Amino acid sequence: MNLEKMSKEEIMKASDNVLMNTYKRTQVVFTSGKGRTLTDSEGKEYLDMMGGLAACGLGHCPDVLVNAIQEQAAKLIHITNYFYNEPQLELATLLTDNSFGDKVFFGNSGAEANEGAIKLARKYAFTNYGPEKHEIIAMTSSFHGRTLATLSVTNNDKYKVGIEPLPKGFKFTPFNDEEALEKAITPNTCAIMLEPLQGEGGITSATPGFMKKVRELADKHNLLMIVDEIQCGFGRTGTLFAYEQYGITPDIMTLAKSLAGGFPIGAIVATDKVAAAWKPGDHGTTFGGNPLACAAGTAVVSEIINTNIPEKAAASGSYFMEQLEKLVEKYDFIVKTKGKGLMVGLELSFPGAPVVEKAFDKGLVINCTAGNILRFVPPMNITKDELDRCIKIMDQVFSETEV
Ligand SMILES: Cc1ncc(COP(=O)(O)O)c(C=O)c1O
Repeated sequence: MNLEKMSKEEIMKASDNVLMNTYKRTQVVFTSGKGRTLTDSEGKEYLDMMGGLAACGLGHCPDVLVNAIQEQAAKLIHITNYFYNEPQLELATLLTDNSFGDKVFFGNSGAEANEGAIKLARKYAFTNYGPEKHEIIAMTSSFHGRTLATLSVTNNDKYKVGIEPLPKGFKFTPFNDEEALEKAITPNTCAIMLEPLQGEGGITSATPGFMKKVRELADKHNLLMIVDEIQCGFGRTGTLFAYEQYGITPDIMTLAKSLAGGFPIGAIVATDKVAAAWKPGDHGTTFGGNPLACAAGTAVVSEIINTNIPEKAAASGSYFMEQLEKLVEKYDFIVKTKGKGLMVGLELSFPGAPVVEKAFDKGLVINCTAGNILRFVPPMNITKDELDRCIKIMDQVFSETEV
């Protein structure tokens, strides 16, 4: 296959012929990226405010990540978890030193981390309280992944059509409703699972009162509190982990996306007490925690911590939010801004897809979630000039928008 001789249209058509039809893709082929800039096969540049869906926390191909991958790739790419490897120790130590957690399990994606967290919570409850205590309460508008068990805690029916029955033992309660949560708990409940800042569900923060209530109820009823920081973790909301802003600690936290800056990896972080429920053979994976992925993760997480990315995300986020507020004032059809730090939503009074398309034509990559919320999750080292450029393009798009 001579890719260099193929036009953009030929590449897209050939891709559609060999790839399963699970994504509605934009008509573009990206061939390179640096910092916050993506370049397509025809040489056009785009400002990336989507950051690989919040995975490219340090931008595209940052030197620190490229170098770490190159060095580790030349040394040892993969063994199995039947053996020890140094990069896995380094990354696990970095995560436990900088969070509530004592123990880490590495997987390959966010859904896999949540799937494992569900298994761990059930095994913990089974071991300590018996088989009846296995039910998990999740939130309305939640998103935790696309495997069967993670769909059971994902409150969006459109992902479930045609594949039911899903695993049993899960229920939903309204996000941020303390009373409803309390009522939903039964003697069979083993865990409460939530995103501190919901991403796919529409960029909605857990209220301080709700997060505290989850912790309080978990303690009172011997339940585990599982926080999914797959999208909101690693500095995006202004602290390394979002739970830190609530004055509580969870029992289990799941991570992925920014963990290795776009290199596939996921992680479950837990307290010693909870992690003790797993014995050899209880969970496992071939690739999870391999030397290459962990070297990539160590490079990214070290950089995030050493260069104060959380603080920078908080400052850039509030500047960006101020500029977006000006657009809210200017255009009646913009309802409000949402989010924290550099996990930002702009709620429209109509579906956002056409706005996303127009922005794309003008060289700005954003996306839309929950139908009408424009989502901005750019690399966290984005500059003021780049944020200004994004606002300018959005302003142009809105000025051409007819409602
Ligand atoms: C909060 C949250 N949890 C889980 C996932 C699933 O992660 P992955 O796509 O890596 O399986 C996502 C992905 O968007 C997410 O935002």
